[in-house]
Amino acid sequence: MKKFRGVFLKNPNEIALMRVANRITSQILDALGEAVRPGAECSEFEDICRRLCEEHQVRPAFLGYQGYGYALCCSVNSEVVHGFPTRDKVLREGDIVSFDMGVVYKGFYGDSARTFPVGQVRGEAARLMDVTRESLLLGIEQARPGNNLYDISAAVQRRAESAGFGVVRRFVGHGIGARMHEKPEVPNFVPRGILGLPLKAGMVLAIEPMITEGGHEVEVLADGWTAVTKDRKLAAHFEHTVAITPDGPQILSLSD
Ligand code: MF3
Ligand code: CO
Repeated sequence: MKKFRGVFLKNPNEIALMRVANRITSQILDALGEAVRPGAECSEFEDICRRLCEEHQVRPAFLGYQGYGYALCCSVNSEVVHGFPTRDKVLREGDIVSFDMGVVYKGFYGDSARTFPVGQVRGEAARLMDVTRESLLLGIEQARPGNNLYDISAAVQRRAESAGFGVVRRFVGHGIGARMHEKPEVPNFVPRGILGLPLKAGMVLAIEPMITEGGHEVEVLADGWTAVTKDRKLAAHFEHTVAITPDGPQILSLSD
């Protein structure tokens, strides 16, 4: 595969395969969203993922990745990412729940995430989800040839911070293709003292703002995975896999 500064450039055939992987990923997220309700055990969402992966004949991308034990990441309230979809986690009215899911289809990866409200949520929780989704879409708009990688980062950061929210530094987006994590890293903030990267057609990026109601610091729990906000305030997470085409950004992780 052709490369620019260490970043794999995908041809239209490869992007077509990635579109299939990401469409399936998005359809699984649709099904998860429909299953969200007060009283749901998070293990139910894992079951849905596994069943739909079998139906679509795709491999869940996260299962076994660096020893991760599930197909799904299911992060509730102050959990930012990498929460476990276990039975002991039961959704309650007013919670927010983030699902992060990926699949492999014919050797290519899909990766996408969304945060859902459980029943009626506080106004501030709804605003956090809205701003996080908006920040992702503003970042995606910048994903075009001629722009710099950090134009994406700046757009996400500006939207989140102007709303008074925190931008998680510890985890970032990434290039994606025949591997889940490829170069470049895609931060949701502009790093100091680094020049970034000119964006080229054929790059495919997983852009994934993780935005917090309070401070941006996170810590990882003793299970080695679950990342929570240090202040235990809410976090939201939206992720799309986006191809950079000569005409601009194309979101691959859409349902149809
Ligand atoms: N969307 C996450 C990421 O881009 C998925 C990784 S979770 C893991 O890093 F369990 F697979 F590590
Ligand atoms: Co990702």
